[in-house]
Amino acid sequence: MPSDAIDGHTPRRTFAIISHPDAGKTTLTEKLLLYGGAIHLAGAVRASKARRHATSDWMELEKQRGISITSSVMQFPYAGTRFNLLDTPGHQDFSEDTYRTLTAADCAVMLIDVAKGVETQTRKLFQVCRLRNTPIATFMNKLDRPGRDPFELMTEVEQLLGIRCVPVTWPIGMGPDFKGVYDRDTRSVLLFQRNTDHGESMSQARTIAADDPALEEILGDSLYKAFRDETELVDGAGEPFSAERFEKGEITPVFWGSAMTNFGVEPFLEKFHRFAPPPGPRASSKGLVTPADKQFSAFVFKVQANMDKAHRDRVAFMRVCSGKFTSGMWVRHARLGKEIRLSRPQQFFAQERSAVDEAWPGDVLGVFDPGMFRIGDTLLTGEAFHFDAVPRFSPEHFARLRVKDPSRRKQFLAGLSQLSEEGTVQVFASPGQEQVPILGVVGQLQFEVLVHRLNDEYGVEVILEPLPYQHARWVRGEGANIEALEGKGYGACVQDQDKNLVVLFKSDWSMGVAERDFPKLSFSATALWDHA
Ligand code: G4P
Repeated sequence: MPSDAIDGHTPRRTFAIISHPDAGKTTLTEKLLLYGGAIHLAGAVRASKARRHATSDWMELEKQRGISITSSVMQFPYAGTRFNLLDTPGHQDFSEDTYRTLTAADCAVMLIDVAKGVETQTRKLFQVCRLRNTPIATFMNKLDRPGRDPFELMTEVEQLLGIRCVPVTWPIGMGPDFKGVYDRDTRSVLLFQRNTDHGESMSQARTIAADDPALEEILGDSLYKAFRDETELVDGAGEPFSAERFEKGEITPVFWGSAMTNFGVEPFLEKFHRFAPPPGPRASSKGLVTPADKQFSAFVFKVQANMDKAHRDRVAFMRVCSGKFTSGMWVRHARLGKEIRLSRPQQFFAQERSAVDEAWPGDVLGVFDPGMFRIGDTLLTGEAFHFDAVPRFSPEHFARLRVKDPSRRKQFLAGLSQLSEEGTVQVFASPGQEQVPILGVVGQLQFEVLVHRLNDEYGVEVILEPLPYQHARWVRGEGANIEALEGKGYGACVQDQDKNLVVLFKSDWSMGVAERDFPKLSFSATALWDHA
């Protein structure tokens, strides 16, 4: 058992998987739950995903929201450790929540399809992890299918993402020739056996020492030679794994496997549980808050609307950062300066919710929210402080909203304000033009949700006019004002909800021009949530 157990509770490891859609995140999640003994047959997670993708009409969206809520965090035990796997929604569900969830994780597993390499969403999510130097382990997936050369894949990771790769295992063959993976640590080869049940149950892999003469026979001449040459190269040229450099986010340990066939999942977990970092300290107005602090503290990283019409409340997800939470406990809401009782705290596992009796640093609690929580809120006992703000991320889609019936404007603004508090949409406006705001979202689907909810919950019909911007950049530095930047053709010069200066750019090119024209200003892709 890792040695960081505080007050005798099971140590926590809180992580998220970052990947591009279809790389196998659902499959790997399921296999981790399977090996952790949290489910007995793979299939449960996949079934809910199938429903998610059935159609994107509103009724389905509602169901989809329900599922997103229930799968916000999944727990599984492994080797005396409790893993909390935070769900990072992808596909149509991709949104700012996906980015923000990463701020609540202590490390990430980057999942890459060996046939595709580093794809766009992986790149974006990787950059978000970089903001906090979150340690990242890499799992190269789908070895049972033909893929790209392993050296080429690692070079791509290093060049595109700027992180050194340290292979922990090494693949032997791929696709029809896939024979297994070599564990560099134990100098043994885990032999691949195709499962007959599509990986629903755990596989019993056979291991053989790399210097066992039988290996040559098993692999055949050409694969054996390739294996020898490649591992020699890796051993000679590669650097050894260093936990310290991993924790600083400087290197990524690389694992190879096939989640679908369960191959390589257990060796991955076996190593991951040893080096995944324990819950870390968090910056706050009183300095670093460490998990060993007795004072209970947590911050809200996600607010999710309840789409069930019978229950209009929301669920706020908070990550425990220090101390111990017990059910029914009174806590202080730092922003409101109010004592509150966290009602019906729950933890969510796959499709089931269960009441929480106690929670420790690294755990995530979902509490029903009558409308009092905002992203970034701090909950605590004892002396008041607040955690440093959770970032806002640059939206990637923009649109203007017009209200069909001007007499509903008040309801419209109230609705927008609430929806922006939930963090699904960001509101920008040119000074004096607040009546016709520009909305920004990270995932296109959020616009559909927005239009529907304004109508459904606030009785406001709106017309959405897409705008051609691609990036929002928060502009800071001496001389950063609208007058200086306007009229130069960069894009729209606007303000965010907190009146910060933002330029909405149509392209990378125009952004580059602005950066060159104003070398002393910073154009940042993130901003912080205001605590006021
Ligand atoms: P995602 O959550 O990252 O979007 O990916 P997901 O797990 O849904 O996997 C996407 C597709 O890739 C699925 O196929 C899945 O079975 C397949 N897959 C995942 N891991 C592996 C692997 O290790 N090897 C191979 N060969 N395939 C893998 P699908 O056809 O879209 O769905 P299904 O019919 O298998 O359910």
